[in-house]
Amino acid sequence: MQRDVLVVYGTRPEAIKLAPVVRALRDDPGLRPVVAVTGQHREMLDQVNGLFGIEPDVDLDLMRHGASVSAITRAVLESLEQVLEERRPEAVVVQGDTTSAFAASYAAFLAGCRVVHVEAGLRTGDLRSPFPEEANRRLTSVLADLHLAPTPAARDNLLAEGVDPRTVLVTGNTVIDALHWVVEQPVPFSDPALARLDDARDLVLVTTHRRESWGGPMRQAMEGLREVAEAHPELDLVLPMHRNPVVRDAVEQTLGSLPNVVLTEPLAYAEFAHVMRRARLVVTDSGGVQEEAPGLAKPVLVLRDTTERPEGVHAGVVRLVGTDRARVVEEVERLLRDPAAYAAMAQAVNPYGDGQAAPRCVGALRALLGLGPMPDPFDAGAQQQSLAAGAR
Ligand code: UD1
Ligand code: UDP
Repeated sequence: MQRDVLVVYGTRPEAIKLAPVVRALRDDPGLRPVVAVTGQHREMLDQVNGLFGIEPDVDLDLMRHGASVSAITRAVLESLEQVLEERRPEAVVVQGDTTSAFAASYAAFLAGCRVVHVEAGLRTGDLRSPFPEEANRRLTSVLADLHLAPTPAARDNLLAEGVDPRTVLVTGNTVIDALHWVVEQPVPFSDPALARLDDARDLVLVTTHRRESWGGPMRQAMEGLREVAEAHPELDLVLPMHRNPVVRDAVEQTLGSLPNVVLTEPLAYAEFAHVMRRARLVVTDSGGVQEEAPGLAKPVLVLRDTTERPEGVHAGVVRLVGTDRARVVEEVERLLRDPAAYAAMAQAVNPYGDGQAAPRCVGALRALLGLGPMPDPFDAGAQQQSLAAGAR
């Protein structure tokens, strides 16, 4: 008899990071994934599910333009209660730190279900930054029965908070599984402006969306990038815009009218990965992009003051630059003008995973349900060494 595992997600990054887990669950003869999407992100979520061939079993369709975080939380709690009552899954899987993830884990806890947290243990140490994600991830840890930590540092954060070590497995980040898969996919460019880009020109890829940067900080950072684009007509700056209207307004007002700036709709994941591979460097406040770009040997400048992903910073391939206009200009200029500084950051390291995180997650879930032993953890040290050996 197959056991139902309810996988709940709502936003683009959760969809990308859970797609390999859903696929690995499908391959397991003893488990059956039941996919419930909250629809917190409508178009950006559907885009990812379509690419990975995942058709949700349940669609809560909750996105309302401009809905507050409280309203999203309420809506997820209310509508999942009924789903959990009807489906009675053996476990509920959530990912990361969005409001969908936290609210789903709380609904599962209230329904007496086991909670499995993928990408557990990330921390900045500042409850209000990123907002509301640091709170979401801490709250989810309190509720979880199984903590799938992407890296040893994430595991250590959990252990320092008193989490039972028997309930924690270091899996690697499932985003690396997704990235391995997606770079093999064909890339039809949806935006003619991207298809027209000259491969011989340098490309700077930019993304931004973080709530704590809305208003002044995001505008400052975008003005810095405007200055860079104006000073460097020989390069193209590509910015796929998040669907959030607050973000789009800030981006369009500062960068909308420059000949060497291409503002696009959110790109399908395969297309985005392709542009990332083409890029000389990446400027972002995204969590997922911070994890992916180092694997592709792209220097990453992070438009934030803190990160819950210190591994890339320690490896020297990611720099936290904040949102101050002058600092953003200075850091991008340094990488464009100083070949030694660029070479130091453009190294293929992958502290975030080896592409086998999803099978480890499913193995740990089987162990939770008494169906097998806990798998061996992801060995970040071995991963670093083998990549270094490959590079020599
Ligand atoms: C959310 C998550 C954040 C995550 C980010 C990834 C919360 C509170 N925030 O932020 O942790 O890093 O997603 O991108 O959970 N919209 C659309 N179509 C879409 C997606 C968004 O129209 O496909 C618009 C809607 O008007 C929506 C708004 O964007 O109301 C904001 O979306 P929301 O999910 O509230 O927050 P994000 O800022 O996207
Ligand atoms: N991404 C994408 N298309 C885009 C921009 C980003 O597919 O136009 C992917 C990116 O490769 C990464 C994920 O979306 O895997 C990151 O999502 P986002 O930045 O929205 O959220 P975060 O990771 O910051 O929570």
